[in-house]
Amino acid sequence: MKVSRGLIFVCWLASALMVHGAKVPELYQSLCASCHGKEMEGGLGSSLVDGEWIRSGDVDEIAAVIREGMPDRGMPAFGESLSEEEIRGLVIFIQEKEAGANPIAGPTPVGDEVFESKKESFRLETIVDDLELPWSLKKLPDGQWLVSERGGRLLLIDPTSGERVAVEGIPEVYANGQGGLLDIGIPPNFEKTGWVYLSFSDPGSDGESSLTAIVRGRIQGGQWTGEEVVFRADEEFYRRGRVHFGCRLVFVGDYLYFSIGDRGAMDQAQDLSRPNGKIHRIFADGTIPPDNPFVDEPGAFPTIWTYGNRNPQGLAYDEVTGLLWETEHGPRGGDELNLIEKGLNYGWPLVTYGMNYNGTPMVARTSMPGMVDPVTYWTPSLAVCGLVMYRGEAFPNWNGSLLSGSLAKQQLRRLEMKDDELIEQELIVDHLGRLRDVFVDEDGIVYLLTNGPGRIVRMSPAE
Ligand code: HEC
Repeated sequence: MKVSRGLIFVCWLASALMVHGAKVPELYQSLCASCHGKEMEGGLGSSLVDGEWIRSGDVDEIAAVIREGMPDRGMPAFGESLSEEEIRGLVIFIQEKEAGANPIAGPTPVGDEVFESKKESFRLETIVDDLELPWSLKKLPDGQWLVSERGGRLLLIDPTSGERVAVEGIPEVYANGQGGLLDIGIPPNFEKTGWVYLSFSDPGSDGESSLTAIVRGRIQGGQWTGEEVVFRADEEFYRRGRVHFGCRLVFVGDYLYFSIGDRGAMDQAQDLSRPNGKIHRIFADGTIPPDNPFVDEPGAFPTIWTYGNRNPQGLAYDEVTGLLWETEHGPRGGDELNLIEKGLNYGWPLVTYGMNYNGTPMVARTSMPGMVDPVTYWTPSLAVCGLVMYRGEAFPNWNGSLLSGSLAKQQLRRLEMKDDELIEQELIVDHLGRLRDVFVDEDGIVYLLTNGPGRIVRMSPAE
């Protein structure tokens, strides 16, 4: 035993000298796999994917073990040979592998289209299909569905006949990559005003740059009419690149909150003179509330409500607690659930629980003074998308839970909240398709909007 440990230690020392600048999976293979196994299944060192930890599974503890070693047990210290960023990257890589080895249990099928979860049983039925990359789902008071498709169609769908019309005359969109027609907003005074809001990737005049914009208009006889611009930034802020547009719309009283992703320019999320990488607040008519946090700061974008937000794809207001919740995509790892509060900095890209997509390490820190920590985070990333606070009658035991969709993992998760704390998390829908949006109607019935296949799935109580 002593000999083999010594031998392995020498081999490890030789390889440790050559690995700087390497990707995290390669770092693992050259420095750790000899003892912990190629798949982290264990060997001379313990398994890193069995969910059991000598100290605790806390990410800071795992990082500390890698940094300081466990000399009495034969785990070498890597603090001298690895940077803090690389150690963080290894922790993320271990979390990814561990999650892959221990998938969390989904709902139990208990009959045709009927499922049982911890607190409620439900039925899943497709009520509309043949949608092309649908992005947002809303129900109008007369029962008709409004669905946006990212390619640039706004569909009005009759719930009984299934008949659908594409509304004519909506704005031209930059339909490219993650850009296109995005969210639909129905304001609280819709029945009086008839306003429908649309967020979309607005093409710049060069046809290649773009930024999220918001308009409102009315739908009359299948036609978009009376359009007004609610938010459109100056073209100097438009960017090339096809990623991270945001953009969810949430009405709270007279206010409209909306998100814009960092547009792939991560450092700009910290730059208050730019609109990207932020949550914004305006009045529903587009004017700027005088008590916004940065209205008096010279050079700052006056609509900014919070900053340091990477790519928010979920925004939900809870009328009972008055809290505004947001979910955003991390890079590789580190998707976040955040409580959104006036003027605060959510840290991207100075702190994150993720690393670069290509597996290179990113930052050492997950937290910093003056920056808000997420309420929870997901590594590996789920690609969280669509978020509602459930307050309905159909599923009484879900009251006070956030329902969060996921694109990459194709899940619907229930996040049970108590005030501003997450107290339980449950996977309630699995493998329906990439889950883009979640909508709850006045009876508390839940509707899921999925991509691949593009459809609306109704989730109703099992009885
Ligand atoms: C020379 C062999 C060896 C190498 C190389 C090695 N480890 Fe270990 N590691 C161990 C041993 C032995 C333990 C303690 C296992 C036990 O006592 O159950 C351990 C423990 C750990 C633990 C704590 C596990 C737990 O259950 O709490 C972590 C995390 C860890 N190693 C990560 C790494 C990483 C990451 C690398 C590469 C950078 C690495 N190790 C390289 C031998 C090694």
